[in-house]
Amino acid sequence: MRLHDQFNTKSFDETKSFLLKKLSKLMPDFEIIEKAELVYKINSLKADNDVVVLGHNYMEPALYHGVADFVGDSLELCRYAQSASQKYIVYLGVEFMAESAKILNPDRTVLLPSLKAGCSLASSITAQDVRNLKKKYPGVPVVTYINTYADVKAETDVCCTSSNAATIVRRLGVDRVIFIPDEYLAQNVASETGVEVIFSDSDAKAQATEKVFIGWRGRCEVHEKFTPEDIHRVRAQYPEVFVLAHPECSREVVEAADFSGSTSAMIKEVKKTSAKHILLLTECAMGDNIIAEMNDTGDDREVLRLCSVRCPHMAQITLEQTLESIQKKQYEITVPEEIRVRAARSIERMLELSR
Ligand code: 13P
Ligand code: SF4
Repeated sequence: MRLHDQFNTKSFDETKSFLLKKLSKLMPDFEIIEKAELVYKINSLKADNDVVVLGHNYMEPALYHGVADFVGDSLELCRYAQSASQKYIVYLGVEFMAESAKILNPDRTVLLPSLKAGCSLASSITAQDVRNLKKKYPGVPVVTYINTYADVKAETDVCCTSSNAATIVRRLGVDRVIFIPDEYLAQNVASETGVEVIFSDSDAKAQATEKVFIGWRGRCEVHEKFTPEDIHRVRAQYPEVFVLAHPECSREVVEAADFSGSTSAMIKEVKKTSAKHILLLTECAMGDNIIAEMNDTGDDREVLRLCSVRCPHMAQITLEQTLESIQKKQYEITVPEEIRVRAARSIERMLELSR
């Protein structure tokens, strides 16, 4: 989704009023005004520095509503990154996302405001692990979640995101895929496509079962924490609550929810439902961003989220770090060309298969 071309030309007073209106349900005015000062400084620098800012749906509300030129889920941001014409892409997200932008658009300089923005899924698997799996299951195509680093993507046949994984697998039209590294996403997509997941440590079953995903035991450290009990407790308090869970949650959580989809799919579904109470099982900042949007449009439905469960990596990206990133042109994301070319094939194939 495109946000605000007009934002880059707003005066400080316009920026302040815009954010005061948008964020008033989330924080006190003095805090919004402090943030507005930083937002204004960042936006003033964009044009002169030939910068476009891409922001993931998990960015904190002042960055999401005030700074990002484009916001979206991992797939949408890949598409924006691929077509960006500015010299600098400042990526408000985590490292594997910024790396994907560089892989797809190598002539741009991609900046990530913090080098501490990792991801538990991306660090759960190495390129050598993938080579070992390919050796163990020769000829089986490797479908890799976008939440991985470039060298892993370079060993991959086709990438996927939470919004297109089932489509990609169906379009491959094969009985077996190596689906890595998220154990829970594999189980959720397998269930959607009517197959089973086995792991390389249960080899006998792999031989016996025809249609199968060969999985890996990586997990998102955020979504693995949600439980069906969380949902039952909220339903006990609000019997008509509409529950949305990201597919990185366990199978049991997704089954107990009313909807599961990518971050952008969840945002769209919130707009569609008429439920008075909505529970989001995903990074809390996304709930804040939805509340801010609803506040602006006079929508008084209540968005519930479990904010004790946070992504520590996404939280590394702050207004201060973003300002510094543009001022100092830091931190540049680079990918060795030999790896980039092979990784690009797997992402481009995903973009083709999910068109
Ligand atoms: P989306 O592709 O749904 O935006 O997910 C990215 C992510 O990291 C979720 O934890
Ligand atoms: Fe990675 Fe989970 Fe954070 Fe997403 S929410 S970036 S999958 S650790």
